[in-house]
Amino acid sequence: MTTPVVDVHTHVYPPAYMDLLRSRSSVPYVRTFPPDTSSSRLIILPGEDDPSRPSTARGRPVGPAYYDIKEKIAFMDAHKIDISVISLANPWLDFLSADEAGPAAQRINDDMNAVCAQNAPGRLYAFGALPLSASTEVVVAEIARLKQLPYMRGIIMGTSGLGSGLDDPALDPIYAALQAQRLLVFLHPHYGLPVSVYGPRAGDYGHVLPLALGFPLETTVAVTRMLLSGVWDRFPDLQVLLAHSGGTLPFLAGRIESCIAHDAHLMKKQANSGDANKAPRRRRSVWDVLSKNVYLDAVVYSEIGLRAAIEASGADRVMFGTDHPFFPPLEEGETEWLSVRTNYQAIHAAVGREQDLAEGVLGGNAIRVLGLKHA
Ligand code: URA
Ligand code: ZN
Repeated sequence: MTTPVVDVHTHVYPPAYMDLLRSRSSVPYVRTFPPDTSSSRLIILPGEDDPSRPSTARGRPVGPAYYDIKEKIAFMDAHKIDISVISLANPWLDFLSADEAGPAAQRINDDMNAVCAQNAPGRLYAFGALPLSASTEVVVAEIARLKQLPYMRGIIMGTSGLGSGLDDPALDPIYAALQAQRLLVFLHPHYGLPVSVYGPRAGDYGHVLPLALGFPLETTVAVTRMLLSGVWDRFPDLQVLLAHSGGTLPFLAGRIESCIAHDAHLMKKQANSGDANKAPRRRRSVWDVLSKNVYLDAVVYSEIGLRAAIEASGADRVMFGTDHPFFPPLEEGETEWLSVRTNYQAIHAAVGREQDLAEGVLGGNAIRVLGLKHA
């Protein structure tokens, strides 16, 4: 294989962000739980610090893989990854106050850029984080600033937007700035589904329900709301990279289209929207958006899921990822991660016979779309 392997889905919590988490006592935070007071746990997901849960179901052990860039490089080397596009992990800056968010974004984005420049030039690039709780002006200014940082290739954000989701019209100046600056939006879940859907025995099941189902469904709902509210009609060049192969979007796109085509209320609302002198707005279809505005990572752990992603958006829009440092092996001392091996195997099973497509998914697509240069 001649094309470098690129990981577009790989996170870090920079040391300054870890300090922030250690200083807090409500989600998100880092702390120890008795009886094991020697190892810290990262508590970030809604509901995961419920005192009725056993301590092993509260968050996850957090070690240097989360914040030490040397561990990232060692992980890349162990898994034959040439380039990583690192991103701040969830919940990004969502929980900060309006005053804190702008300066924190500058500090953390500068830090990420410096990490890429200093530690392994040519091997690391980054997606920046936005200060979404600050004013729109502050967010738009940070987008312009990010464009000037040499290792930044886009932004990562969650599904809450300014607090009421990604279909909020107040996000339009931010979408406009991202489109104008040609910055890719890496859309990543964090909030999942209301914990009540996991039922009274959820504590017995660890993180399986929120991570396997809550995350992908959150992404699917968020993107569908963007589509229904006409985000891609207003911003036809806005490009998004969807985590976890689009949640369930490739699988459910037909059902979404069908529900739209059969919804009299929605049709009437769209016919009445816009300028009375103009023809009613024509909404772009889910399929059209999937093939022109959406990139999908290949973090889906199966050939079937990956084939759906490739069918929905095209093999030239799917990109390898690992989700490191999440999903490490359960046994200590294993250098090859099962989670990574499963994703490599899915790519080889889905497109391994078509060398060009496989090289595109493993790295060529990311290099082309993000303008990466391998040292
Ligand atoms: N769990 C998280 O909280 N974030 C990820 O990105 C993956 C797993
Ligand atoms: Zn992730």
